[in-house]
Amino acid sequence: MKKILITGALGQIGSELTVKLRDIYGQDNVIATDIRITDSEAANNGPFEILDVMDANKMMELAKKYNVDTIMHMAALLSATLKQSRYLPGTLTWAV
Ligand SMILES: NC(=O)c1ccc[n+]([C@@H]2O[C@H](COP(=O)([O-])OP(=O)(O)OC[C@H]3O[C@@H](n4cnc5c(N)ncnc54)[C@H](O)[C@@H]3O)[C@@H](O)[C@H]2O)c1
Repeated sequence: MKKILITGALGQIGSELTVKLRDIYGQDNVIATDIRITDSEAANNGPFEILDVMDANKMMELAKKYNVDTIMHMAALLSATLKQSRYLPGTLTWAV
């Protein structure tokens, strides 16, 4: 059985993806993670963990804890300002 960890799971795409994948693979087989928590279906109806994707050690820890075989990255910072800058230290966004 697949074990999927989704980052940015409370965003626009991640929240819908989490619900759909839980329908397909089972509630306990899709681990939703995000840097924040909201009162939402993705956070409330299945495993949820706070995870900053910049924290590689915690990501590894969670992957081992849940025996994850697939990671889907939906974590993102979307804004025109970020896209115009080059690299902003401490953020996720690289401008190319
Ligand atoms: N929304 C769209 O229509 C669309 C279309 C095509 C592609 N995409 C791509 O899909 C991805 C997600 O887009 P979205 O619209 O869901 O964005 P969103 O802003 O709605 O969600 C991003 C999520 O990432 C989380 N996040 C931010 N920084 C984080 C960090 N350091 N660690 C963990 N989580 C963090 C936020 O809390 C948020 O829940 C992006 O790469 C975007 O370019 C989106």
